[in-house]
Amino acid sequence: MAEDKSNGKPTNYENDDTLTNRQGHPVTNNQSIRTVGNRGPSTLENYDFIEKISHFDRERVPERVVHARGAGAHGYFEAYGTAGEEPVSKYTRAKLFQEKGKRTPVFVRFSSVIHGGHSPETLRDPRGFAVKFYTEDGNWDLVGNNLKIFFIRDAMKFPDMIHAFKPDPKTNIQDSQRFFDFCASSPETFHMVTFVYSPWGIPANYRQMQGSGVNTYKWVNSEGKAVLVKYHWEPKQGIKNLTQKEAEEIQANNFNHATEDLYEAIEQGNYPEWELYVQVMSDDEHPELDFDPLDDTKLWPEDQFPWLPVGKMVLNKNPEDYFAEVEQSAFGTGVLVDGLDFSDDKMLQGRTFSYSDTQRYRVGANYLQLPINRAKKQVNTNQEGGNMRYEVDRHVGDNKNPSINYEPSILGGFKEAEQSGKEYTPEVKGKLVRETIDRDDNTKQAGETFRMFEDWEKDELLSNLVGDLSECDQLIQNKMVELAESADEEYGRRLHEGLEEAGKMKRKNSKPGPLGNEDSEKGPQEAMD
Ligand code: HEM
Repeated sequence: MAEDKSNGKPTNYENDDTLTNRQGHPVTNNQSIRTVGNRGPSTLENYDFIEKISHFDRERVPERVVHARGAGAHGYFEAYGTAGEEPVSKYTRAKLFQEKGKRTPVFVRFSSVIHGGHSPETLRDPRGFAVKFYTEDGNWDLVGNNLKIFFIRDAMKFPDMIHAFKPDPKTNIQDSQRFFDFCASSPETFHMVTFVYSPWGIPANYRQMQGSGVNTYKWVNSEGKAVLVKYHWEPKQGIKNLTQKEAEEIQANNFNHATEDLYEAIEQGNYPEWELYVQVMSDDEHPELDFDPLDDTKLWPEDQFPWLPVGKMVLNKNPEDYFAEVEQSAFGTGVLVDGLDFSDDKMLQGRTFSYSDTQRYRVGANYLQLPINRAKKQVNTNQEGGNMRYEVDRHVGDNKNPSINYEPSILGGFKEAEQSGKEYTPEVKGKLVRETIDRDDNTKQAGETFRMFEDWEKDELLSNLVGDLSECDQLIQNKMVELAESADEEYGRRLHEGLEEAGKMKRKNSKPGPLGNEDSEKGPQEAMD
């Protein structure tokens, strides 16, 4: 055994940097497996090799079913103590917001949605913007996107939507026809399609994009009174989006540009910042509005529901280990703290089941024990066992009797917490139904958004839509033109004209079909008949 230079630490290595296996055994030969003679067969007792290769075989966990490609960073949130002119306590008792200057550590993961873990970061796709606040009351996750609205308004449709947007199960290639087939058949997608096909569908990087909670939540104050609330992150770096051509040029050279941009900025001390705003509405149905406040395909007009600043976020530390911190991070819409609550937004309700369900599968039953997901306050739970459990929560804190892993108990164990304010107890009455909401205008706000775009943004939107739609069946094109016409006269006319022009070009350039006829004169269905 080598001389002990460990200052009391048990070691039998020459140096601190001696390579070991996971059992702590020094590895004396990391180049060759053990064989009978230097070109003979290997043996089954090759423990070091088998350990090395079998761990390697398990290096991946399933990637996220959506939002697989991402980048993360640590930082802090600093509260203003106010919501616009008012003390924030008027609306919420959540502790992290109350005191001006109060800082709460955060971890943020940005992502793109549809493609896999190493897909280019230049693709036309919404971007994820998920923030984990490690508050004194436990964790709060605000799982948002860069855009402020979404494609659908009912969680029941989410798996179908994602199937249509992801690669074709037969060819494994993403296909505009499948994308627009779903969108044309689900007209509520039209507002989001208008954003995604404009330059807003390709943010230049993660630092220069907005974020939004998208779904409607509630804030609850100490009197147990609730308001409806929407969250928005505004980048202090400004907003920058890319044209299709600019994105293609970047992609030709670099398909990690957004991860690189975030990482380098933080390494250089150029810390990105966002301001957090909320929009607030009284907690009722708002029959005076022409949209439902629980409909996530709609924007809340800023002039009626002003943006109230409530704090800012600074990202100032890169992860030490991508897998441990970014890949294994787990965000969910159910992760709220006292003073924050759910609304009846049907998407939010569906999402809230989905996140922790997928994370128990993707990361494992004890995913909340991993340092990146674990609350930064003491966790006292009677949960037991499960794969890879290593924290023994009931041995900590004031629990004097570690045998009591149940509650209630006279003998010891953890006790229920006191309610910190008046409980919020909304009353719900009605028949259980499967129905869509009443106020379902799908195109009015899409028209308003179109008219808000600058000319170059409109040009890009039309050119991108025509490019992808011209690959689609005539019936799908017709339906999309109908939606655009109903949104805005100019939008509909230009889409119609663009598709006609693209159709003519296609016919001009088309070669005779397999039967020797010019089958592209007809729609695909007709051609097959
Ligand atoms: C990730 C489900 C709608 C934002 C995910 C994941 C699932 C999921 C299963 C993977 C989570 C993981 O593996 O850790 C759903 C369902 C939805 C829905 C069922 C609708 C019913 C939305 C909406 C937004 C959104 C509307 C935008 C506000 C995100 C983000 C992530 C994500 C940002 C990535 C989180 C991360 O970085 O780990 N979603 N989602 N999702 N979703 Fe959703």
